[in-house]
Amino acid sequence: MSEHPAPLLLEKDSLETFVRAYLDRQERYLALAQKHGSPLWVLDSGVLKAKARRFSQAFNACFDQTAYYFAVKSNNCPEVAATLLESGFGLDVSSGIELNTALDLNAGDIVFSGPGKTDEELRLALRHKDRVTLLLDGFSELDRLCALLPGSDQASPVRVGIRLTTNPQGLWRKFGITLEMLPEFWKKIAALPPIRFAGLQFHSSWNLTPDRQVEFIALLGQTLARMPGDFNRSIEFIDMGGGYWPEEGEWLHSPEPQQGALPQENSIPLDRVRPHYRIPGTPIEMFAKALSHAVQTHIFPFADCRICFEPGRWICHSAMHLLLSVIDKKSHDLVITDAGTNIIGWERFETDYFPVLNLSRSGLVERPCHILGSLCTPHDVFGYAYFGEGIERGDCLMIPCQGAYTYSLGQNFIKGCRDLSKSEGQTPRQG
Ligand SMILES: Cc1ncc(COP(=O)(O)O)c(C=O)c1O
Repeated sequence: MSEHPAPLLLEKDSLETFVRAYLDRQERYLALAQKHGSPLWVLDSGVLKAKARRFSQAFNACFDQTAYYFAVKSNNCPEVAATLLESGFGLDVSSGIELNTALDLNAGDIVFSGPGKTDEELRLALRHKDRVTLLLDGFSELDRLCALLPGSDQASPVRVGIRLTTNPQGLWRKFGITLEMLPEFWKKIAALPPIRFAGLQFHSSWNLTPDRQVEFIALLGQTLARMPGDFNRSIEFIDMGGGYWPEEGEWLHSPEPQQGALPQENSIPLDRVRPHYRIPGTPIEMFAKALSHAVQTHIFPFADCRICFEPGRWICHSAMHLLLSVIDKKSHDLVITDAGTNIIGWERFETDYFPVLNLSRSGLVERPCHILGSLCTPHDVFGYAYFGEGIERGDCLMIPCQGAYTYSLGQNFIKGCRDLSKSEGQTPRQG
C-alpha cells in the first residue's frame, strides 16, 4: 500500500492566490452575514455544480458507462444533495436517516451501503426497492435480508451488490467481505430468486493518488479470472466508492501530520506566523486515467459493466464556507469567536491548516493571533493566524472550504450547531 508523501512547504504565492479568490467576493459574504447573522454556513451551489460537472466529465472521458452517487455522509445538508440530484448524480446513503433524506428529495437512484444496517433500515430499503440498490456488507446481512423478504413483493427482486474489503487486515476488515469469500457468497445468493445480484462495491479512503485503488483493482481482476462465467456475466456494475482527495492536497500546520500539529497545551508561539505545509493531491483527470487503465486491463476482460463512483469530499469540500464573528478580543493576539468548533464537530484546525480571513479588515498579510472558539476547552481552535489589517470585536471571519465532514459532524455541545440555531440564521444560505 502506498504511503503519503512527506509534506512540502505551502508556497506563499499559491496561498495568496487562494485567499485572493475569496477576498474578491468579500462584499457578498459580508452581506450574507449581515442578513442572516453569525455564525453562518454559506453554500455556494455554483461551485458544487461545477465540481459535479468536472468529476463526471473526467470519468466519462475514460469510461463508456458510468454512474455517480454523492456520498451524503460527507455533507448531509439536504440542499447539497438536492443540487447534486439536479446535476444528474444519484445518492449514496449509509443509514435509514440518510435514506429518508434521499427519498424525501425524490432521488430515483440510491445506493445504500455501510456495515451494521438494522432490520428497520433493511425494511425501509425493501419498501423502496424500485429506487434502492442495497450494497450488502456480508453473509449475516444477507441472511437477515432473506428473513425479511417473505413480507415483500416477490414479483420484483431486490437489487443487491456486495461490498468488498480493500484491506482484510486491521480495522478496515469491518467493511464488506474478502475477495476469497466471493465464490461462497455467489453460491449462496445465486440460489435466492427474490434477490438479484447486480454488482460489486469497494471503497478506500483518503486517496491523494490513485495507487491504492489501482492495486485493489488488480487483485479484483485476479479474483474475477477465477470466478464462474455466470457470476461475471451477472455483474452490471462495479462501484469504486469515493475517497478522492481534493487536488489542492492536505494543508497542515506541521510537517509531521501523524503526530498532530500541537505542542503541549496548544501553545503555538505567536512571535510570527509559522510556515504552513501541504501534502500534494492529484488532479481528478489523472485519477480517471489511472483507474480506467486499471479497469481496462484487469476488469473488462471478465466483466462488461458500468463503473460507478461515490465521491463525497471531492465534490463538497470547496462548496461550503464558515462565517464567524469576533465576540471578544482579549489581547492583541487573542480573540474569541461566536461559535465553538462543535459547529464542525471535531478538532480539525489543531492539525489541518485553513486560512482565516478577516472580511471586515481584509488584507493579504497573514498575522499571528489565537483565533479560539467559545467552548470551555483549549482544543477549541479555529486558527493561529488571520489574513487582514487588524482584528477587532464584531469583525466577520471566514474559513473557506469547510464543506466536507464538518456540517454533517456538527454537535450541540455547550453551544448549538445548525439544528438548534436554525432560527438564529445558521442554516446554509446560497452564496
Ligand atoms: C462506502 C463509502 N463511499 C463513499 C465515501 C465517500 O468518501 P469521500 O468523501 O472521501 O469521497 C465513503 C466515506 O467514508 C464511504 O465509506
